[in-house]
Amino acid sequence: MHDGFASAEDRAAFIVALPKAELHLHIEGSLEPELMFELAQRNGVAIPFTNIDEVRAAYAFSNLQDFLDIYYQGMGVLHTEQDFYDLTAAYLARARADAVRHVEIFFDPQGHTERGIAFETVITGITRALDDANAHFGMTSKLILCFLRHLSEAEAEATLDEALPYLDRIDGVGLDSSENGHPPAKFERVFARARALGLKIVAHAGEEGPPAYVYEALDLLKVDRIDHDNRSLEDPALVARLAAAGMTLTVCPLSNLKLCVVADMAAHPLKIMLDAGLVATVNSDDPSYFGGYVNANYLAVADALDLSRADLVTLARNSFTGSFLEDTVKAKHLAAIDAYGRT
Ligand code: ADE
Ligand code: ZN
Repeated sequence: MHDGFASAEDRAAFIVALPKAELHLHIEGSLEPELMFELAQRNGVAIPFTNIDEVRAAYAFSNLQDFLDIYYQGMGVLHTEQDFYDLTAAYLARARADAVRHVEIFFDPQGHTERGIAFETVITGITRALDDANAHFGMTSKLILCFLRHLSEAEAEATLDEALPYLDRIDGVGLDSSENGHPPAKFERVFARARALGLKIVAHAGEEGPPAYVYEALDLLKVDRIDHDNRSLEDPALVARLAAAGMTLTVCPLSNLKLCVVADMAAHPLKIMLDAGLVATVNSDDPSYFGGYVNANYLAVADALDLSRADLVTLARNSFTGSFLEDTVKAKHLAAIDAYGRT
């Protein structure tokens, strides 16, 4: 067994209570089948499943697009502000149980506005739950609006226009959905406008797409963080650049497994990333679809790659250093991790 742990059970216990932040979580991807059925009934929406086992059986994906087709269909049950509140509150309670102290949540407004749901309904429900979690259990959060990259840049611009009245509640913008064929360059102007508005910038890159998309995310979008980044490992010069820049990467092991980005967990590149000096973090992406929340991701990858106590502490530290929290707040969380690591 690796340093500091007598057994895999010991390591698991360490992970479970390790203070951590989650930086890559699509709130619509936390819609559990039970809530999907409840909301379908509440809103009179037909869904193509008769029971929860059927839903889970449908979650067998061979690539990103397979998943996205089901993900957009699933979010169709979300109609009212209360639905968005319930969805977000359920995720925050679940994250709290995993010793998550801070979350940076993605939402996909275009997945809702194109169904006729008002932007205001979406953001009001989500932010009310974020405020309640902060008031009731001290969970802090940031909110990141993602543009759907399979849609046009003009549609992203229109979405940014809709967000303008809510900029006091939005911390950043991101880029998600079908990666191949939709490079970051397609969105250069809307990201420049978001940056000029003072928003943080993140983008999914190198999940299925080539290293060239990661270069575009860096050079054209001027990202503060990269989501996934697995395929950068194909390009040593890119790895060196990301390491030298201290660029935070939000890595999602169970997502990578379920979407066939890796063949099995033993082949996951997380340990290679850490050993290359990359600032990797562990996240759940779409936990209801991929089989686990953040601790399940830490546990799966720690077992498969035999991660050490030092690796785990580094991952938890990276989740705060890479967050959009203020430096003084980051320092408090880092001190808590260091104290925990010494126990
Ligand atoms: N939207 C939700 N999850 C996603 C993922 N893993 N990649 C791209 N878009 C997404
Ligand atoms: Zn994602």
